[in-house]
Amino acid sequence: MLEVQDATVAFSAPGGPQVRAVDGVTFTVPAGTFVVVIGTNGSGKSTLLGSVAGTVRLDSGQIRIAGHDITRWSENRRARFVGRVFQDPRAGTASSLTVLENIAVAACRGRPAGLAWATGHRLRTEAAERLSLIQPGLERRLDQPIGSMSGGQRQVVSLVMATWHRPDVLLLDEHTAALDPAAADRVVQATARLVREQKLTSLMVTHSLEQAAGLGDRLLLVHRGRIVLDVEGAAKRRLSAEDLASRFDRLRRGDQLDDAAARTLRDLYV
Ligand SMILES: Nc1ncnc2c1ncn2[C@@H]1O[C@H](COP(=O)(O)OP(=O)(O)OP(=O)(O)O)[C@@H](O)[C@H]1O
Ligand SMILES: [Mg+2]
Repeated sequence: MLEVQDATVAFSAPGGPQVRAVDGVTFTVPAGTFVVVIGTNGSGKSTLLGSVAGTVRLDSGQIRIAGHDITRWSENRRARFVGRVFQDPRAGTASSLTVLENIAVAACRGRPAGLAWATGHRLRTEAAERLSLIQPGLERRLDQPIGSMSGGQRQVVSLVMATWHRPDVLLLDEHTAALDPAAADRVVQATARLVREQKLTSLMVTHSLEQAAGLGDRLLLVHRGRIVLDVEGAAKRRLSAEDLASRFDRLRRGDQLDDAAARTLRDLYV
């Protein structure tokens, strides 16, 4: 379970105004819930995820994961609880290492050095199983340098690495944004399969309304550092991209979204 309580992060550029990138945000994500996060550019999505990962410090408020108050923990210390896949396929993997070697690095992370199975037969078997489960065929590429694989394949390996020790929270900040549409779609399907099978508590940022409507158990819309829409349960399951577009209109009429943001969000509807 992830609990974010009254979280605030303010940035001030020299000479510029102070921006509250996250502005008094409170929400709780029960274990096993797949949350999709949307919002226009600069609305605060990455800052919110960064504050959970520990790359951004809260100015006030509290974050708890699995009952631990991690608010003041370093990014390193949180790594035991938090798995992440980055936007850039090169960011989460080492190009010169093979797929299996990359996975071995993830398997050893935070564990006592010299775990025999980390390079042995058992790792190979388990890596093959996990890869084939979310993208059949990839299990045959274990000995290829990851630098020779496509961005989409690298992101699937990154997903397997980020979830190897079943993190309490998985953070995906536009992890398909750098991919072509077909590859992005494959990675999103692989993500949904993995999250469902492992019942992972996940936050996934996307700019696709199709994904926002069609994936996950819950949808959060972030605007100017606040959550202005939170749809879950049966309402989320019924939600279509069209419904979502009309929800933006309603929020705009209620002054919870400005005109430009409502227009930008609606334009994402394809
Ligand atoms: N390190 C920083 N220093 C100063 N301002 C920052 C910093 N990081 C983010 N901001 C500002 O905080 C606000 C929120 O940024 P953030 O990156 O969280 O938005 P986002 O919703 O992830 O946008 P995008 O969709 O473009 O990724 C923006 O106004 C941004 O300029
Ligand atoms: Mg961002």
